[in-house]
Amino acid sequence: MRAWTIALALALSATLAVASALAQRGDAPRLTGSQPLPSSSPAPSLAEPVTDVGRQMRNYPEQPPVIPHDIEGYQLTLQTNACMTCHKRQYVERSGAPMISITHFQDRDGQMLADVAPRRYFCTQCHVQQTDAQPLVENLFVDMLELSGSAN
Ligand code: HEC
Ligand code: HEC
Repeated sequence: MRAWTIALALALSATLAVASALAQRGDAPRLTGSQPLPSSSPAPSLAEPVTDVGRQMRNYPEQPPVIPHDIEGYQLTLQTNACMTCHKRQYVERSGAPMISITHFQDRDGQMLADVAPRRYFCTQCHVQQTDAQPLVENLFVDMLELSGSAN
């Protein structure tokens, strides 16, 4: 057997071992529910968006802020960006929405553009709406202010 075949076999068995260990731990419920994989179960209903709490504190400074309003039906395609009808620099006076971050005008070389940079065009790549969905596993996140003892 060639060396690469052996390496491949080793990698494959290592992956299988990890996968079966994860399956046995069973600490994260599967998104598909408790039914065994081959059987089909009815899709759970979509979670309700949370829209009545206003802008949310960020958990760390670089966090993309979560979307505090409904985005149902807002088109986000190559031709249309509904988000920018409120969040564009020219429109915020009228809409009352916060302007997109200054970082969103920069291309990957740090060059400032007149409008949103292509790499920031698809807003929901990074910004998510909050819903009333319950976390699948306990959240152990600790804010860095608490860690450093300088909270509030
Ligand atoms: C009709 C106008 C309008 C449209 C369209 C709109 N927004 Fe907003 N957005 C707002 C307003 C107004 C706020 C501020 C809400 C507040 O202060 O409670 C806001 C807040 C936000 C925030 C929170 C910013 C922060 O600093 O906390 C994000 C993120 C956001 N919107 C993203 C989006 C995305 C993504 C889309 C498109 C899918 C979108 N918005 C479409 C008006 C709009
Ligand atoms: C590649 C990820 C990414 C994409 C795509 C993106 N954002 Fe952001 N956004 C962020 C991050 C990270 C922050 C917070 C840090 C910063 O300011 O860059 C942010 C901040 C914001 C803020 C808060 C600005 C402020 O000064 O408080 C708004 C509003 C916003 N984004 C709207 C949008 C809209 C609208 C779009 C689509 C046109 C969009 N973002 C696309 C990552 C992204």
